[in-house]
Amino acid sequence: MKLTDAEQAMLDGRDGPAVQKAMDLLLRYGRALGAERLVETHNVVASVSASTPFMREFASQHGGMEAVFSQFSLDSDEVVSIPKVRTFSVHTQLGFDPAQAERMGVDEQTVQFFRKGEAFTTGLGIQATNTCTPYQVGNIPVRGEHCAWMESSAVVYCNSVLGARTNTEGRESVGAAMLTGRIPYWGYHLDENRLGSHWIEVDTDVQSTADWGLLGYWMGEQVQEQVPVITGIRSTPNLARLKHFGASASSSGGVEMYHLVGITPEATSLQQAFGRRKVPNQPLRYGLRERRETLQRLNATGREAKIDYVMLGCPHYSLEQMWELAQLLEGRRIHADVQLWVFTARATKFLCDQSGYTRIIEDAGGHILSDSCSAMSRAVPTGTRVVALDSAKQTHYLPAILGVQAWFGSTAQCVEAACAGRWQELAG
Ligand code: F3S
Repeated sequence: MKLTDAEQAMLDGRDGPAVQKAMDLLLRYGRALGAERLVETHNVVASVSASTPFMREFASQHGGMEAVFSQFSLDSDEVVSIPKVRTFSVHTQLGFDPAQAERMGVDEQTVQFFRKGEAFTTGLGIQATNTCTPYQVGNIPVRGEHCAWMESSAVVYCNSVLGARTNTEGRESVGAAMLTGRIPYWGYHLDENRLGSHWIEVDTDVQSTADWGLLGYWMGEQVQEQVPVITGIRSTPNLARLKHFGASASSSGGVEMYHLVGITPEATSLQQAFGRRKVPNQPLRYGLRERRETLQRLNATGREAKIDYVMLGCPHYSLEQMWELAQLLEGRRIHADVQLWVFTARATKFLCDQSGYTRIIEDAGGHILSDSCSAMSRAVPTGTRVVALDSAKQTHYLPAILGVQAWFGSTAQCVEAACAGRWQELAG
C-alpha cells in the first residue's frame, strides 16, 4: 500500500509503539482487502469496553486495560502504553446497562470492572455515548465525510441517509483508526461501490415505523449485501422510520447502503443512484403480498398469545420515540405478568428524566434502560418465554439467541399487548 510521509513516520515509530502497532494493523488489514491506500478519518464509532467475566480475567492476568486495548483493539500480544486518541471517537453499545445491572442479571464485580475500564477509555478521550445510534446523540457526520464506524444499523444510516462514507468496521480496525486517524480506502469510501445494483419498486403504502421495518426486512432478503435503489415511496419517512428500515435490511441481509429516490442524498433521480451502472430493465416489486409474507416469516416463532416481556428500543429509541411511548402509556398500567423495558442512549435517558417521560413510563410500570439491549446483553426478565417487539431486527435475533417466541408489530400494538398481557395479531 502507498503511504504518505506522515503515515510512514507513524509506521516507523515516530509516535510511539501503540501508534506503530495501529499502523501495522491497518496495513495488514488494507492489504487483505486490496486497498491501495489509507484515507484520513476524523470520526470513529468503536467498541473498546470490557464488560464480561472473560475480559475481567484477561485484564487481571495480563496487565489491566492497557493489555485489553493492546490485545483486542491492536491485535498485539505485547502490552503497550495507549496514548490519547487522535480522532473524535464515540463508544457504541455495551454488553449491559451498568445503572441497571441487577435487573439484567450482571454481578457487582463485573460492574466495578466495567466502571474502571470506562474511566480508562474516557481518559483516552473516547466519548461514553454507548449507543448503537450515535447520530441521535450528536455524532452526525456530513455528506462525503470518511468515517470508521462499527454497528451495522449505524453504518447503513451513515452511508445512506447522511451520505457519509464507512464500511462496517470491527473492534481492531476502529482501535487502530482512533490512534492514527486513518482507515483503508476501499468499499463504501469509493464512489463506484456506492452505486445502485438492484431496483425495487414499492407498490403499497409504507407509512408506519413497522411498515418500514417490514420493507427493510424483505429488501435485505432480496438483495443481501448489494445496494438497492427504491422508488414508489409516497411520503417522506422520518429518522425513526429510516433507522428501522436500515436496521432490518442489515439484519436479514447485509445491506450497508441503499438509495431512496428523491429522499436520500445520492439519489435525486433513478439515474443518479445507478450512475454509470445500467438501470435494470425490470424492478423487484414490493406489494401487499410481500408485506404479508414478510410479517408471517418474522412471526414464525410466535405461537402463544400470552406474553411475558415487551422490549422496545432496537435500535435505541430517539427522544421523539420516547415522547410517543410516554403518550401511549400515560395513565395506563402494564399487566402484572408483563415486563416492559425500553432501551435508549444515556444522553436521551437524561432528557427523558428532564422532560417527565421517565416518570410517565415508570408510573405505568415500564423501565428505561440505556447502553445495551436484550440481544446484546442476552438479558430478558426472568422466566421470559414470549416477547413482543416493534423491531424487525430484534425479532430476527432474539429467538435465535435466547430461544424465546417473538411477535413483531407496531409500537402501539406492543403497548396494547403490554397492558393486556396478550398479543393480538393485526391483519397483515
Ligand atoms: Fe442496537 Fe441492540 Fe438493536 S445494540 S441495533 S438495540 S440489536
